[in-house]
Amino acid sequence: MLQKIRKAVIPTAGYGTRFLPATKATPKEMLPIVDKPTIQYIVEEALASGIEEILIISGHAKRAIEDHFDSAPALEMELERKGKESLLQMVRETAAIKIHYIRQREMKGLGDAILCAKAFMGGEPFAVLLGDDVVYNEPGRPALRQLMDVYEATGSSVLGCQTVPQEKVSSYGIVDGVATDDARMLKVLDMVEKPSIEEAPSQMAVLGRYVITPQIFSILENTLPGKGGEIQLTDALRVLAHREPVYAYDFEGTRYDVGDKLGFLKATVEYALRRPDMGAAFQDYLQELLAEED
Ligand code: G1P
Repeated sequence: MLQKIRKAVIPTAGYGTRFLPATKATPKEMLPIVDKPTIQYIVEEALASGIEEILIISGHAKRAIEDHFDSAPALEMELERKGKESLLQMVRETAAIKIHYIRQREMKGLGDAILCAKAFMGGEPFAVLLGDDVVYNEPGRPALRQLMDVYEATGSSVLGCQTVPQEKVSSYGIVDGVATDDARMLKVLDMVEKPSIEEAPSQMAVLGRYVITPQIFSILENTLPGKGGEIQLTDALRVLAHREPVYAYDFEGTRYDVGDKLGFLKATVEYALRRPDMGAAFQDYLQELLAEED
């Protein structure tokens, strides 16, 4: 019988150099979109998809992430004293999310970070969510859930993809695939990590969501450093795709590259516009601002 996807891993590697000086003492995953750290959007997508246990691969200077998902007795007492019930509830709900941590000692690449999750996964198929990709969907169909549905139908690994403009292919893992009966789905033949425009087999980019069978771990153990001298998950997935079926699924949703400054601003503006408590006021402000420019 098919094993359910119960566990997810969220790697938090990287120094966040694109957001210096903000990330000098604060992990980039803690930068807020409106008022919530980006990593909390990722964790909430995993939980909304039906994930039961989350492992964060933590590392140097990432302590604030652990503190964020921990209880905060002094803050809770203060909110209680002031009668700020809804804030108190929010703080308690964040601390109730069950998260495990492992530290990656050296930043040797995404593939190495995923390999740190081997013991935690205990031979089960699992999900991967990357913090630089935040995906908005109407409630009910989070991006990861869409991939889990494909896994449940095929029993195979699934890569969450979308088409990116040609000039962006060199920022992503790019898939070479053949069509299947499902128009949103390709069977992966090959993959290349961050190819040049000339090398890229397509514009189908892997965008930070994966469901992977546990066979990946023995492959990762034998994967040599690739692009940028790092152990690449893409290189291991490529080997997996040669051994067993791997699918690329064009997921629905608005995806923001929050690892990029412009992408981060777009996410901030659009999430603020969607907020029931401030969307209308923010929209009025933006309209006034644009009218002044005309
Ligand atoms: C990583 C992966 C890449 C993937 C991308 C998605 O790259 O290596 O294959 O397409 O995430 O955001 P990074 O952006 O961490 O360099």
